[in-house]
Formats: sequence, C-alpha cells, structure tokens
Amino acid sequence: MAAQILDGKSLAEQIRAELKDQVTDFVNQTGVTPCLAVVLVGNNSASEVYVRNKQLACEKIGVKSEMYRLPDETPESELLELIARLNANDVVHGILVQLPLPKPIDEQHILDAIRPDKDVDAFHSDNVGRISQGRPRFLPCTPYGILELMLCNGIKTSGKHVVIIGRSNIVGKPMALLLMQKGKGCDATVTVCHSRTPDIPTISRQADILIVAIGQPKFVTADMVKPGATVIDVGMNRTEEGLVGDVDFHAVKEVAGAITPVPGGVGPLTVTMLLLNTLTAAKNQCLER
Ligand code: GUN
Repeated sequence: MAAQILDGKSLAEQIRAELKDQVTDFVNQTGVTPCLAVVLVGNNSASEVYVRNKQLACEKIGVKSEMYRLPDETPESELLELIARLNANDVVHGILVQLPLPKPIDEQHILDAIRPDKDVDAFHSDNVGRISQGRPRFLPCTPYGILELMLCNGIKTSGKHVVIIGRSNIVGKPMALLLMQKGKGCDATVTVCHSRTPDIPTISRQADILIVAIGQPKFVTADMVKPGATVIDVGMNRTEEGLVGDVDFHAVKEVAGAITPVPGGVGPLTVTMLLLNTLTAAKNQCLER
C-alpha cells in the first residue's frame, strides 16, 4: 500500500490562518506590530528565494518585515554594526540572518551577536544551550515544523527509533536535541548519521522515523527504508528535473508508511514556525517593557 502523504502545505496554511488572528489580536491589544528584520548578505540565488518567501509570508499574516541587503564583500565589522543597531531598535522583535554567509565571515560569530530574545532562528549559542537542557526560548524553525507535522498527523515518537541523516547546525543537530527531550512529541531514541558514517543503509533500515537533511538529491532509495516507516525529507535540491528532495519520493512512497513530498512537505512549515517565533518574540518583548 502506498504511503500516507504528509501534507505540510495544508498544515502550514491552517497554522498561518490561526497566526493571522493571533497577530490581529496582539496588535489590537498592544498597538504594536510584530516586526522581523531579515538580513541577506551577497547574492546566493537560493537564499534570495527563501528570503522572498519569508517576507511574503510575513506580509500575509500582518507581521512587518524589514529587508537589509548587503553586498557579497561586506566586512564582518559592518554586519556586526547592523546587528547591533537592530538589537537596539525596539521596533524590531526578530532578527534573521540568512545562511550561508559569504566565506570569510565567521557565521557563529555573527549569530552570537544577535540578541538571544530576538534570535527567532534559535541559532545563538545561548538558545542552542537552552534547547539541549530542555528549556528552550525558541525552537529552531525546520525541526519545529517537523515536530508539528508529526504531531498533527498522529505519528508517535515516544520510544521510537529516529534516524537522522545529516548533522547540520540548522537541521540535523537541533532535530536530534529536540527529539531526545522528555515530553509530548519527543521521547525518541535518536541516531545521527553523517558523511563519515559507514553503511548508512544498515542504520536507516532500523528507523521507525527517518529524517533526511543531507543535501543530496534522491540520496535515500527504497531499499534504505523499513516497510511502514515514516520518512521526512528536508532536502531542496535544484536539479535539471526541477526541485528534488533528498529522498527518491516515487520509489520510497511504495515502501514507507508515511512520507513528505518535496515541495509541499517540510518547507512551508519552516516559514510558518518563523512567523510563530516572531510573534512569540514580540509578545515576550512587550511583556518585559
Ligand atoms: N538557510 C537555510 N535554512 C535557514 C534557516 O532556517 N535560517 C536561516 N537564517 N538561514 C537558513
């Protein structure tokens, strides 16, 4: 039997409709409009698309977005000055620096300069530390979206073996940190595979839930998946065939119990969780004033 398709697009639309109402209530109660500052350095074409999507999504639910574009050769000091200004600006509640940054810039140095209570990506060391201790300020957007997608589709994680392929700071590592926590939608046994893991197929076949974020088109083939497993594809690879995930969707959907499509799976939820984090940041900052 073919797998259940985990429709991230429709879940994202549903959550965004709820968020739109929450934003309206917040503005009516406080007179404050939640505002996200988006910083894009250089002209990475994929980043341009992601950033545009984030801005459009903000507009649609009544969150203000401010775009800061800096040229490729921007020195680190100039980027740090911009972040310092945004940190001090009370009108701005969330700050997102789109990654990757051009090579000479020390990415973690930049992320650690963002005020932790405005760090809606949850990439600041302080926020990562809090996540690892099970007391998050924000949840990182892609892993958060994946947790919501599983929760809303009745996919149980407690006691399940989750195998994550990919160890990036954006997806693989925070996903593992979240799933191993105590609590609803977590409590999983987690294995992380990466480029130096020998024999990934033997490990991936043990997964009740397989999460793939490795950036290689169709890396996961049908023989790497246990029959009935849930397969979450975080990949967005632009190929001659068009946009392709890290999973060979057509073959794997015949083996898996549930699977995310690309596009229309994880992607729309990442942006939705960014909107939710921005509203949370605005609420927290208003409470503190
Ligand atoms: N680049 C790819 N994904 C992300 C993300 O979630 N946040 C930021 N800031 N940059 C990214």
